Amino acid sequence: MFDTMTFTKVLGAVCGSLLVFLLGNWAATSLYSMDGGHGGHGEETQSYVIEVAGGATEAATEEAGPDFATVYAAADAAAGEKVFAKCKACHKVDGSDGTGPHLNGVVDRAKASVAGFGYSDALLAMASDAWTAENLNAFLESPKGYMPGTKMSFSGLPKVQDRANLIAWLATQP
Ligand code: HEC
Repeated sequence: MFDTMTFTKVLGAVCGSLLVFLLGNWAATSLYSMDGGHGGHGEETQSYVIEVAGGATEAATEEAGPDFATVYAAADAAAGEKVFAKCKACHKVDGSDGTGPHLNGVVDRAKASVAGFGYSDALLAMASDAWTAENLNAFLESPKGYMPGTKMSFSGLPKVQDRANLIAWLATQP
């Protein structure tokens, strides 16, 4: 049953797959040396480093979580009222000032614009700008990081969800 035709076909198939294997091998090797380019050992090290760096980047992105705009778009103002408990010692929302200026109407209000309140020079220096939701987010995450020299003695709200909820609630206080 092994006539010449069959033998030739089998030989052809074996040679064919060997060729594919060799071509694949060659392609892999040349791709490899394209991004490495420094001889055998260097290539191995480099491909390892790329994998680790890729993994680290992914992990960092995961830790950072969703950005403020995304969280703010779906913020829960009622939950934000509870976060405001951390501000109440110094801030009111009835138009009167305490240790800090009143915060009703603060979203999109010009910075340092409450007449009669004694702002720090640091905040007065930013008066041309407004308290957009994004600026409030940055300030409330780290008051002293955002505004070195501020009089506001508050360490910050580390959770983006808390900041988004609080700013959404402040936006409901005219
Ligand atoms: C220990 C008191 C204190 C606490 C607590 C506090 N603040 Fe303040 N806040 C201040 C003071 C004082 C200022 C004025 C800062 C300056 O002049 O540098 C201020 C300023 C601000 C401003 C700028 C207002 C403007 O008119 O420009 C905002 C916004 C603000 N605080 C929000 C908050 C929020 C929200 C919280 C709670 C998460 C909070 N603060 C907690 C004391 C406080």
